[in-house]
Amino acid sequence: MPPRRLGVNIDHVATLRQARRSPYPDPVTAAVMAELAGAAQITCHIRGDRRHIQDADLPRLRDAVQTHLNVELAATEEMLGIAERLLGGHRHRHRVTLVAERPGEVTTEGGLDVASQKDAIAAACARLHEAGIRVSLFIDPDPRQIEASALPGVDMIELNTARYAEGDHGDLRRHVAAADIAARLGLELAAGHGLTHHNLPDLVAAVPGIVEYNIGHSIIGRAVFVGLDRAVRDLIDLIRSPLA
Ligand code: PXP
Repeated sequence: MPPRRLGVNIDHVATLRQARRSPYPDPVTAAVMAELAGAAQITCHIRGDRRHIQDADLPRLRDAVQTHLNVELAATEEMLGIAERLLGGHRHRHRVTLVAERPGEVTTEGGLDVASQKDAIAAACARLHEAGIRVSLFIDPDPRQIEASALPGVDMIELNTARYAEGDHGDLRRHVAAADIAARLGLELAAGHGLTHHNLPDLVAAVPGIVEYNIGHSIIGRAVFVGLDRAVRDLIDLIRSPLA
C-alpha cells in the first residue's frame, strides 16, 4: 500500500496577506516550502468572495507546484470556467475538489449535497473530466452522499471531518462505514477539515482506507510558532505512523 499523502492547504497564508493587501506572505512560497517538506499535493480554495486566494495566485501556483495542485471551488459557471482555463489540458495532473459554498460562512460548513443535485454535479464532473482535470467531491460521511458520488468522471471523494474535529468522537464510526462504501464503489478516499496534530492520530488509526489528508488552518497556525517545514513534517509523520 503506498504511503498516505498529505495535501497542504495554503489558503491562510493568503488570508494573512489579504489582511493588509500587501504582497507578502506569498502563498506560492508556502507551496514550494510545503513540497520541500514532503507535501504530496498543494490545495487551495478560490472562493466567490476572494477572501484569501486571488485569481492571479492560481496560474502562479499551477506553474510553481511540482506535485499536484488541488483547487477547491464551487460548481458555478464562473468557477468551472476558471478551472478549465487554468488546469485544462494538463493531462489529469491537477485536480478540482467541488465544495459547497455559502455566502458569509466563516469556512466551508458542510459537504456537497450530491444526492439532491445529482444532475448538476454530474454535468460539472463530466465537464472537468473532459478538460483533463481530476475530480474529487467534498461530502459528509453519509452513505447516501457517497453512493450518489459514484459518477462518471469522479476520481475520488473527500470526507468532511468537521464534526469529528469539533469533538464528536462518535463520528469516527461514520467515517469507518463511509470508507467501506467508498472501497466498494472504487472511489479513492481523502479527508479533511479541522484536522490538527491532536485529533489526527485517532482518525488515521480508525480509518486506514483514507489515503490522503488535506489540512490547512492548523498547519499554517502552527507554522507561526514552529515554522512551516516542521509543521508539515510533523503531520506527515503522524499520518504515516499514527501510533508511534
Ligand atoms: N478540505 C476541504 C474540502 C476544505 O474546504 C478545507 C478548507 O478550505 C480543507 C480541507 C482544509 O480545512 P482546514 O483548513 O480546517 O484544515
